[in-house]
Amino acid sequence: MTTTPASPSSTAVAAEAFLRKFHDNGPGQQSVGVQGAPLADGRTGYQVLAAQVAGARRVLDLGCADGALLEVLGAAGAEELAGIDLSGQELALAHARPALRGADLRQGRAQELPFADGSFDAVVSHMALMLMHDVDRVAAEAARVLVPGGRFAVAVGGGAVEGQAVRLFLELARPYFRAAPPERSLPRLGSGRLLTRETLDELFGPAGFAPVSWETVVLEMGGTPEEIWAAATRSFYNMVELDQEQTASLRAEFLAAVPALLDADGRAAAGTRLNIATTRLPVT
Ligand SMILES: C[S@@+](CC[C@H](N)C(=O)[O-])C[C@H]1O[C@@H](n2cnc3c(N)ncnc32)[C@H](O)[C@@H]1O
Repeated sequence: MTTTPASPSSTAVAAEAFLRKFHDNGPGQQSVGVQGAPLADGRTGYQVLAAQVAGARRVLDLGCADGALLEVLGAAGAEELAGIDLSGQELALAHARPALRGADLRQGRAQELPFADGSFDAVVSHMALMLMHDVDRVAAEAARVLVPGGRFAVAVGGGAVEGQAVRLFLELARPYFRAAPPERSLPRLGSGRLLTRETLDELFGPAGFAPVSWETVVLEMGGTPEEIWAAATRSFYNMVELDQEQTASLRAEFLAAVPALLDADGRAAAGTRLNIATTRLPVT
């Protein structure tokens, strides 16, 4: 049964226009960041998420960007791959991956999936759900396109590890972000609700999903101060709110403060948390 389409709110329209433009201007950045920030055991966030839906034959990725997660899913055994993203340039990179030659890649919104009812065994989303408005609609659409018993697994950001370099970067950057003039300010990305275990249950439950299972892993983007600066500035959309002078000033503050965190090799730990929530539909 298809759900009734509802027009997106003006906040959602503004957020999606920003995201489309941002990713069209710099496609492929997110997957570079994910591959450069593995867990202590060497796995990437993509591999952790893919393991949640192991054995699924037909898998859809919401906010698939350049298709890096889809490629991991294919290598892990999924046979029919599909993805949806707002950004045409991200999708162009996904199309160019030989491993995704047969994949069904669409430009569009996760709130209005252009796929038939019951066409997937699993739906996944990596670091995208927290940017989306109307997450309850996304959940309803995921439920619609899944088969009975189908799995829904999402990875969402869980914040920077206390006392480490990404946390330091954010503490220094927040005053700059807050001071951004209206013409440079980001639209509100996401529903405004933190995606915790409890809020995901509140959002997913009405769509028919069981309570989520929840796991937190730590991603390590540590390195030299310059490496951490590069990784951190690539990770936060808010950096577009800063002009050149402000960016240079923030960089100088960060490079002056980070030596307190360096080890004998001149490197600092820079952990961020990734929360993995997995649920499923009832079998009948
Ligand atoms: C932070 S990136 C993550 C990309 C990819 N999942 C990864 O981890 O490599 C967020 C992606 O979600 C996409 N996105 C955000 N909101 C979306 C929506 N409502 N529908 C489809 N894609 C969306 C953006 O265009 C962007 O490519």
